[in-house]
Amino acid sequence: MEETTVFSMPRIGEKAPAFKAVTTQGEINFPDQYAGHWVILFSHPADFTPVCTSEFMTFAHLENKFEEVNCKLVGLSVDGLYSHIAWLRTIKDKIEYKGMKNVEVKFPLIEDITMEVAKKYGMIQPGESSTKAVRAVFVIDPKGIIRTVIYYPLSLGRNFDELLRVVYALQTADAFSIATPADWRPGDDVIVPPAGSCGVAKDRMEGKSDMHCYDWFFCTKKIDKDTVWKTITKK
Ligand code: BEZ
Repeated sequence: MEETTVFSMPRIGEKAPAFKAVTTQGEINFPDQYAGHWVILFSHPADFTPVCTSEFMTFAHLENKFEEVNCKLVGLSVDGLYSHIAWLRTIKDKIEYKGMKNVEVKFPLIEDITMEVAKKYGMIQPGESSTKAVRAVFVIDPKGIIRTVIYYPLSLGRNFDELLRVVYALQTADAFSIATPADWRPGDDVIVPPAGSCGVAKDRMEGKSDMHCYDWFFCTKKIDKDTVWKTITKK
């Protein structure tokens, strides 16, 4: 009987689908092994390809910035382990790109020849390619809950300022029970949830609080960069 392929699309707010896999850093048990840490699980289409190489070098170069906010990196493609190892060695030994050289990728890169994990995470999108994973990004919190999902097509390299910004913003929202407006970066004003009672809303509108209100439903307040930074880096 023909086997049915199950493609799933994990969604924001759901538990990250569990799997065990072989990686360039040994076996992993995902997401349980990462309990207590934020994780970015990301896929790339293929080893030994240029966009992916630029991304891997950038991820490795920025790994300490992700570590600073307790965020681990885990990569995946549907290539095999020996391909992964050879590609990462080539990157380290031969590629100099935008001032980055001798770049060692220390985070795990999952081998997924069977596409089992890629299919579980909606990384195989047949309209784009049925043999390669698209560029997926799953930001997963310390409880193993998916908090952000971003998919990019094969031709589009990711924006790493944005990936860091997403982790900073999610952690800040959790720590201060606020939301973050368009293009927010640490130090910018944050959005205060709508007031629960008319009295509170009136105080806000009359400026009797630390908030600035553009209207009754749109209030912001300051949280300085230092406070955000000390909170999310636990320094
Ligand atoms: C790349 O990483 O350069 C790439 C991979 C697959 C398709 C297109 C581009």
